[in-house]
Amino acid sequence: MPPANAFLTKGKLDKTEPIFPLDVYFCRGCGSVQLMDVVSPKTLFKNYTYLTSASQPLVEHFVELGNEVVKKFLRSSNDLVVEIGSNDGSLLGSIKDNCRILGIEPDKAIADIAARAGVKTLPEFFTSALANKVVTDFGSARVVLANNVIAHIDNLKDVFEGVSALLTDDGAFIFEVHWVGNLIGEGGFDQIYHEHLSYFSLSALRKAADLWGMKLVDVRKVPIHGESLRVYLKKKGVESKAVRRLLEEEKERGLFAESTYRAFAERVRQNKSDLVSMLKKLKKQNKTIVGYGAPAKGNTLLNYCSIDGGLVDYIIDTTPFKQGLYTPGTRIPVLRPEIIKKNPPDYLLLLAWNYADKIMEKEKWYKELGGKFIVPVPSPVIV
Ligand code: TYD
Repeated sequence: MPPANAFLTKGKLDKTEPIFPLDVYFCRGCGSVQLMDVVSPKTLFKNYTYLTSASQPLVEHFVELGNEVVKKFLRSSNDLVVEIGSNDGSLLGSIKDNCRILGIEPDKAIADIAARAGVKTLPEFFTSALANKVVTDFGSARVVLANNVIAHIDNLKDVFEGVSALLTDDGAFIFEVHWVGNLIGEGGFDQIYHEHLSYFSLSALRKAADLWGMKLVDVRKVPIHGESLRVYLKKKGVESKAVRRLLEEEKERGLFAESTYRAFAERVRQNKSDLVSMLKKLKKQNKTIVGYGAPAKGNTLLNYCSIDGGLVDYIIDTTPFKQGLYTPGTRIPVLRPEIIKKNPPDYLLLLAWNYADKIMEKEKWYKELGGKFIVPVPSPVIV
């Protein structure tokens, strides 16, 4: 598989792309689910194209999280909130009038976008060394946030130690990760790509926290990327009832049994075969199919199913950085969303299926014209 965010410029179309193995492993000893082949972060996150602000539902989700942080965790406007992987500053920007904020975002161009929006951002990868520097320069943090980034980091020990060094004694580390229970259940296998090194259960996170000097105190399921966990760690504290309930649910769902993952692999193969048959049948009937959204997960789906320009004419996406580029591996052009208004296709393949409700609401006009959406995972359906 090529890296899922390595969109290509036109000039690169005649070049071979770097590809890397993408196999998921399950540890029979501790139940951890993860990749073993680690692609260098410099390869994955250089010229990164992902912008939080391109997905309005994600921005709304972060505003809700920001409100919770302000209401439940901050004591004064002098409190410092640090966000690891702060992207374009959408989350910190929403609380910047309530406290001191600092973003940490390794992509320089994206860090610059945040800075222009008034979110002070260090263009760096987060490490324990950087954490110590932040304490010296800005003081300790009351809250450290990290959304959709913990699974991207190979040296988690260093991150946990860094967060611990950065937090005040009663501070909180609040982060969101996609939940493995959703990955192998109602969600889609396409959330597997090189950036996601770990597919977390709460149980695995609890072990990590214990191992690296923090305490899991609370958890909440949040409806983002299918289903994610909002996890709360502190330096000291006791586990909430919600933690105990979710650990129980994970056991009941068989998240620690090898057979669960073998059955998942079988469903993934079936998902591929059903989707490809559906698209080929529609193509035979001369129907036009366009991709809706060019998320990283879409590139796992397209590559694994070998869906290229022969089946999908083009893809629309709201991210300015992605428009005019081509999907890695499958080389489908990514265009501005307005184009479907001029020439609506028969079918929209919903690659950004995680925002299905909001997208269908936004594109009511398309359904009213008789257009149909194909939701590709966990088994394809036409709606
Ligand atoms: P997302 O699912 O957040 O991420 P990932 O890359 O982690 O799989 O990405 C959603 C993509 O879909 C992003 O490129 C923006 C795009 N998008 C649209 O084009 N239109 C929309 O209405 C929404 C919500 C997203």
